[in-house]
Amino acid sequence: MQVRPRRNRRNTAIRGLIRETHLAAGHLVQPLFVQDGEALRTEIPSMPGQARLSIDLLIETAHEAHELGVAGVALFPALPDDEKDPRGSASTKPEGLLPRAIRALKARVPELLVITDVALDPYSSDGHDGVVIDGRIDNDETLPLLAAMALTQAEAGADIVAPSDMMDGRVGVIRSALDDAGYTEVGIGAYCAKYASAFYGPFRDALDSAPKAGDKKTYQMDPANAREALRELALDEEEGADWVMVKPGLPYLDVIALFRDSTALPVAAYHVSGEYAMLRAAAAQGWLDYESSLLESLTALRRAGADAIFSYGALDAARLLR
Ligand code: PBG
Repeated sequence: MQVRPRRNRRNTAIRGLIRETHLAAGHLVQPLFVQDGEALRTEIPSMPGQARLSIDLLIETAHEAHELGVAGVALFPALPDDEKDPRGSASTKPEGLLPRAIRALKARVPELLVITDVALDPYSSDGHDGVVIDGRIDNDETLPLLAAMALTQAEAGADIVAPSDMMDGRVGVIRSALDDAGYTEVGIGAYCAKYASAFYGPFRDALDSAPKAGDKKTYQMDPANAREALRELALDEEEGADWVMVKPGLPYLDVIALFRDSTALPVAAYHVSGEYAMLRAAAAQGWLDYESSLLESLTALRRAGADAIFSYGALDAARLLR
């Protein structure tokens, strides 16, 4: 045998020397759930280690994230049912929970990126990302609401708004609304290939935001499709997205790799709630090691081509990488 691949794996130094993919805290974004109140931490049973945090505790976690080198946080507000309505009107209140959280973060941890989600579901009494009219999710009725929501977030200080709603044309209307109001520096991180996935279950527990009727298959993508993601990519690029996301993460590595080869835009991946829950659940049984399976998952997302990764394990990974 002349050729022995194992020579390149002989020891730590050689493996480090030739490693193709690197994972650093700076590649990571920690999603966080925020709720009203003070000193309030409400654990999310289906996402062990994650909780809804009141703004004071959110700030503490944000400080820690920043100290660990995590690039940013992605915020999701948990509203009580009596603040939800069919048009998600709470999403444009300047004194609403999310704008208050954004302002507090930008005042206290200004260097940490604040990324906000643009979609109706946390605010909608129907639990859908768009407006429901006669049982259908109305695309064009939803667009101005999304633009107004993004504007409210930008006014509060969001660095990047991230439309996750999958309405057609939303990146364009949000870009125009931001530019018209002078927010030309606020970026759009488009959830570009967002699939109608069963892996979002624990997230919907966290926000109590599951659809009241039907499912999200008329707007989120069919898990069977990869070519269709290229149509979404072309549109989001044309409409001015600053980066494009694939979601979920590990079940869609092929789509991440396809995007990496098909666009010059940065590509993000979302290691979603169900992916996190699986690791935690198996670890709780003693069937998997959480720490190493988390780092392996995140490395695999990077290897497939993700520049940035949203993961509930971001803080944990950053601690391990230190
Ligand atoms: C809302 C939104 C969802 C997620 C992020 N933004 C849920 C959904 O579309 O139902 C899922 C995140 C996760 O599962 O971690 N539009």
